[in-house]
Amino acid sequence: MSGAVLAMRAVTKRYGLRAAGVVLRGIDLELTRGASVAVTGVSGSGKSTLLNLAGGLDRVTSGTVWLDGADLTALDEGELALQRRKLGLIFQFHHLLRDFTALENVLMPARLQNRPRAAAVAAARDMLDRVGLSGAGHRYPAELSGGEQQRVAVARALAAQPALILADEPTGNLDRAASDAVADLLFGLVAERGAACLLVTHDADLAARAERVLTLRDGALAAGGPA
Ligand SMILES: Nc1ncnc2c1ncn2[C@@H]1O[C@H](COP(=O)(O)OP(=O)(O)OP(=O)(O)O)[C@@H](O)[C@H]1O
Ligand SMILES: [Mg+2]
Repeated sequence: MSGAVLAMRAVTKRYGLRAAGVVLRGIDLELTRGASVAVTGVSGSGKSTLLNLAGGLDRVTSGTVWLDGADLTALDEGELALQRRKLGLIFQFHHLLRDFTALENVLMPARLQNRPRAAAVAAARDMLDRVGLSGAGHRYPAELSGGEQQRVAVARALAAQPALILADEPTGNLDRAASDAVADLLFGLVAERGAACLLVTHDADLAARAERVLTLRDGALAAGGPA
């Protein structure tokens, strides 16, 4: 799809069979390299659903999603798993591996992709540094605060150089200073590496740093922040 990192066309999503389960009613969205879009909307409006569909983590009811040129709606589970390697996922619940240190957690995607270890360690240290945790690489999740764990999860999502970053409330548990560090990292990588970023947030300061702000309402995307 014309070089877009993410393209969604006429995407609908209904949970279950009843009309009441319709969450998305015709989403059209395109993100090229270097683009960032912030999505706002009230609780239950379908923001997380939108991210899940964009990353092939859930199936559309109708419509099409292209990730870096691949039509996700035409792929089987095995092929989808390969496509998901293009993603950097930052979700509300970050699920660090508790038996691994912060540094090993950040290294995990590179390890799964069999990347050369020395370069991966350097990239992981750089990411931890950029979220303000350069001294915490040897610590286990249980030895980190909730906000520190969240920053490790952000570093992990971004260390593997994703084409598309999907972030659901990435600064949800963080104070202003930590939020700003995460935002600097996020938008810095979008600019430096030409990644694209689709971000869900209630944080007006964070949303304002995105190129476009959209609001999800009645199953559709409209331009601008919350009314
Ligand atoms: N697996 C599911 N099965 C059935 N209904 C679901 C499922 N997941 C979400 N929903 C419903 O779809 C709607 C949208 O949910 P979604 O999680 O996308 O909202 P959201 O905008 O992310 O909300 P929040 O801001 O609270 O995170 C909600 O009404 C929710 O109850
Ligand atoms: Mg949500």
